[in-house]
Amino acid sequence: MSVPFIDLKRFEPGFLDRWAEVCREVSAATRFVGGPDVVRFEKQLAAACEVDAAVGCANGTDALQLALRGLGIGVGDRVLIPDATFWATFEAVVNCGAQPITIDIDANDLQMDFDLFQQAIERYQPKAAILVHLYGWASARLDDYRNLCREREIHLIEDAAQAYGVEWRGQSIFHHCQVATLSFYPAKVLGACGDAGAVLTSDIELAERVRKLGNHGRTGHYDHGMVGWNSRLAGFDAAYLSLCLEYLPERIASRQRAAQRYRERLMDLPVRLVAPPTGTIENGYLNVTLTDPEDRERIEGVLKEHGIGSGRTYPTAVSKQSGAVGYLDSAVGGEKADRLARSILNLPLFAHITDAEVDEVISAMRKAFGH
Ligand SMILES: Cc1ncc(COP(=O)(O)O)c(C=O)c1O
Repeated sequence: MSVPFIDLKRFEPGFLDRWAEVCREVSAATRFVGGPDVVRFEKQLAAACEVDAAVGCANGTDALQLALRGLGIGVGDRVLIPDATFWATFEAVVNCGAQPITIDIDANDLQMDFDLFQQAIERYQPKAAILVHLYGWASARLDDYRNLCREREIHLIEDAAQAYGVEWRGQSIFHHCQVATLSFYPAKVLGACGDAGAVLTSDIELAERVRKLGNHGRTGHYDHGMVGWNSRLAGFDAAYLSLCLEYLPERIASRQRAAQRYRERLMDLPVRLVAPPTGTIENGYLNVTLTDPEDRERIEGVLKEHGIGSGRTYPTAVSKQSGAVGYLDSAVGGEKADRLARSILNLPLFAHITDAEVDEVISAMRKAFGH
């Protein structure tokens, strides 16, 4: 049996019929941009994420830019970001005219290293930081990040593009955030039927600024109080996301089960299957297997021979990207992020992957090591 790295077509029985009905309603009423579907989804999202406000937007990269701009980050401001993240985190800072500084990661949880972060604050006096909740969990030092940034009056944006549904100390991970951003790219845990994103915050004034920025700085239909851009959430996306929310607990549970099964059944192999830190309930976004960098290609080859897809999320540290030249203000460390990039291998993991499929992957992995 072959197993793809990702399969977005595992719709639940009845889902596509319900979606077809929603499409008919949205189309008949031409609720294409904004409107009641967006209002309803934003309310559902804020409630699920335990924040006072959710503002839908066009994608997760815009969500970061809206959060940065909404907080007043602009030309000349320094922003600390982890060296291991999707390139959009870096781009968002640059696109606001600010200067990104990358910080190496902690080898245990693979998130930004708190001690290096603290040192970088003293050295660079940043105005903001973006903490990325990578891989479907978050830093073991999340409370320390939030407390330190509050004390030092550094804006802390949490890039949670990969972290919808993650719990931290028994609550939604967003419960105590200053501001967090989501991506609803279709492959995410909560994915839309196109590109979409959102900004989450309990700061109502910030939410209002973000909403205006994402709607041409509008204060009236043809009155513009600031320079923003068009980053509105489409009606179809909002309606699709609302429908998906009903199915999400099952989807997340199936991801978590698969993530755990891999860890339990591959623990004796000479690879490291990374588990979320204590206090975190992961959403099962990605399997994170760390290989010997010299051996990764061989393992991928064996998987491929057996019809198993795999990924490398991400194969290059941010500070090592060619596009960073000319924009990277400084890089603090980077060896661990670089090693992660050279050793990471992601096994198939998606909503409603079956136990039989996971076992097929496990069997191929075991064969790769002569088991
Ligand atoms: C960590 C992270 N930040 C930002 C983004 C950007 O989101 P989008 O693709 O919706 O713009 C992504 C998307 O993959 C991501 O994984």
